Amino acid sequence: MTSSTPAREYDFIVVSNRLPVDRIVDADGRESWATSPGGLVTALEPVMRSAEGAWVGWAGQPDLDLEPFENDGIRMVPVQLSEADVENYYEGFSNDTLWPLYHDVIAPPSYHRQWWDAYVEVNRRFARAAARVAAPGATVWVHDYQLQLVPRMLREERPDVVIGFFNHIPFPPYGIFSQLPWRTQVIEGLLGADVIGFQRIADAGNFSRAVRRLTPFATRNPYIEVPVDGGATRHVVAKPFPISIDAAAFEELARQPHVQERAREIRESLGNPQTVILGVDRLDYTKGIRHRLQAFGELLADGAVSVEDVTLVQVASPSRERVEAYMHLRDEVELTVGRINGDFSTISHQAISYHHHGYPREEMAALYLASDVLLVTALRDGMNLVAKEYVACRFDEDGVLVLSEFTGASDELKRALRINPHDIDGLKAAILAAIHMPKRERRLRMRALRKRVREFDVARWSREFLQTLQTAADRRGGGPPVAELPEELEWTVDRRKAD
Ligand code: F6P
Repeated sequence: MTSSTPAREYDFIVVSNRLPVDRIVDADGRESWATSPGGLVTALEPVMRSAEGAWVGWAGQPDLDLEPFENDGIRMVPVQLSEADVENYYEGFSNDTLWPLYHDVIAPPSYHRQWWDAYVEVNRRFARAAARVAAPGATVWVHDYQLQLVPRMLREERPDVVIGFFNHIPFPPYGIFSQLPWRTQVIEGLLGADVIGFQRIADAGNFSRAVRRLTPFATRNPYIEVPVDGGATRHVVAKPFPISIDAAAFEELARQPHVQERAREIRESLGNPQTVILGVDRLDYTKGIRHRLQAFGELLADGAVSVEDVTLVQVASPSRERVEAYMHLRDEVELTVGRINGDFSTISHQAISYHHHGYPREEMAALYLASDVLLVTALRDGMNLVAKEYVACRFDEDGVLVLSEFTGASDELKRALRINPHDIDGLKAAILAAIHMPKRERRLRMRALRKRVREFDVARWSREFLQTLQTAADRRGGGPPVAELPEELEWTVDRRKAD
């Protein structure tokens, strides 16, 4: 245990780079908290609400020295990052080395030893923060590529705790992963966990292959046999757990009369076109926004669609704005949107309605209801929860999902119109097919998609992950007893059987 005494110890702890809230300070110095961006928070928030645990993470601003606090029923334990940590650990190693490397090197990754040193140091800080607030035998669930060294560091500090790790983004094939100068340390860091979860079967396979290439450990799917002191073996589980959303909550939101009214308003303000196509993404080069704009621009130029009939609404929420690749992307996207609008918009009809903002969930639900087609053209995406949110909101069984085959979601959402975003002609054909799809086919497809999203929701995802974690912990030879997990998570493992 670390020396400083914690205010309180928790049996269940989530550790992620970001807390679910970011601290916002306005021009007059007033403080408020806003939901932080990205799929991780969307997925984990409902899990944390149902568990009386603590969330360890960064509050989204440099040099904030905050005491633990409660926000909207969730206990937050802030980890401080200095301006240099933000530059080297977050913008540097996490988002300019690992992010492009793990997404098929769509942008070239940069390798800097100074960034790696910061990554090691900050990972240690997160591990210590979790170690300080963990009750004896607690369950600690670490998330995402920013914190891959935490499982091993935490195990060294607190061998009594049960450690899960979930990777929200893809895990790359060995041919790509092997570029990383610190590849072995990353694998060893992850193997500190009892269970390592991935989005897709392919990600778990890539990880096991990396383990075989870089360590002497045997792998017997889904186990990796890690020798420990005294001749014993730890069986680390590495397998897919595709993440999801709180589908019922999204549907409930979409059913609210004022949300439906807002959806009507949105269509009206767009000039009531026959078809509204929607794109919703963080402004990230992995999302294929340029490919989407190219396809839409060509359809307008070909005369296959007209601005009177079809509007593309693109929500591009600001992201990682100080990383160079993101600055270039913003310039390129906005230049292209400007050109297409300049070439094709009329006084009464805009070709592309472009929004560089994030929106609250209610507004998103209204946008989903207002759109006939959702266009997901990611070049590589761990899951893509936007696709699942769209489906969850369409209780009217209408709307067409056009979905890139390079998303984790495409493994599950089989009745979407699947596209290869690099194939611009194929993408154009899919957009036209979506626009002209008969109502009956839209309903049949949407029904099947909704069944999948309802059944495999975020509660099921967390339950399956945590059950696997519990079973793995029970298998630990002679280890200390494992803490009870929150009842609300509907724990169903029969401990006696696991023994
Ligand atoms: O899901 C991937 C992810 O990188 C999360 O880890 C992260 O919180 C989210 O996207 C948004 O990115 P960022 O925290 O860098 O703004």
